[in-house]
Amino acid sequence: MKLVKTIKEVREEVKQWKREGKTIGFVPTMGYLHDGHMSLVDKSVSQNDRTVVSVFVNPTQFGPGEDLESYPRDIEHDAKLCEEHGAALVFNPEPEEMYDEMFCTYVEMSGLTEELCAKTRPTHFRGVCTVVSKLFNIVTPDRAYFGEKDAQQLAVIRRMVKDLSMDIEIVGCPIVREEDGLAKSSRNTYLNEKERAAATVLSRSLRIGKRLVECGERSCGAVEAAIRAEVEREPLAKVDYVKIVDAETMKPVKKIDRPVLVAEAVYIGKTRLIDNFSFTEEKQ
Ligand code: PAF
Repeated sequence: MKLVKTIKEVREEVKQWKREGKTIGFVPTMGYLHDGHMSLVDKSVSQNDRTVVSVFVNPTQFGPGEDLESYPRDIEHDAKLCEEHGAALVFNPEPEEMYDEMFCTYVEMSGLTEELCAKTRPTHFRGVCTVVSKLFNIVTPDRAYFGEKDAQQLAVIRRMVKDLSMDIEIVGCPIVREEDGLAKSSRNTYLNEKERAAATVLSRSLRIGKRLVECGERSCGAVEAAIRAEVEREPLAKVDYVKIVDAETMKPVKKIDRPVLVAEAVYIGKTRLIDNFSFTEEKQ
């Protein structure tokens, strides 16, 4: 496996693979890899001849006062894991390699980027769309893999690929959880012991919501209120949002009468965590 830092090196490698007729899977990440990321790598390795993993803490998707500087980084550990899991190439550029001093072109989306995480992080998806477009142009993959934990991001990327006619199959992969239900996230490392215990409230509150929906509750207000009430019982937790949206448009809905995403963002101390589940009524 190769670890490279320049766009030129990625292009050379990818060109050679394409000459040999190989298919390319791509897993974009911000590093500090965990089992959630590795499930994406495993899926890509199983579906493609070559897998590229990018490890890049993308400055343009962080807002002022967010955790860009403190975001955990460990490229040696990441590269070792990627090698063990069968990736062929890790791309770990410096910020200057991706954004030179004249950089001024962004990929902007409306609609899907107005609700949920966008309310607290208004410039986040512009940064995500921009960096993912750049990475797609550099790696030119056949397939790209994204986790369902970042469900809004996945919907945004699917829309962007459609809107901009990118010839890439987007593969969504299920959330990977700790034994106690907490969704795996690089940001879990920010939690102290008490906060780590409190963080189980995310998955627990969603389970309550899911049970209600599965028992036939179709009022979004009622389901959201039940989830919020459970989070509010936890003293270290503060709700950012609990929202039910149309699974494709990410627009809020009042009744669960179509495929929906039930999503929440919760501060545990200073750490903002997200989780969700999707629901589609089974046809009789
Ligand atoms: O999901 C992430 O880790 C990031 O948003 C991504 C897709 C790698 C873009 O920086």
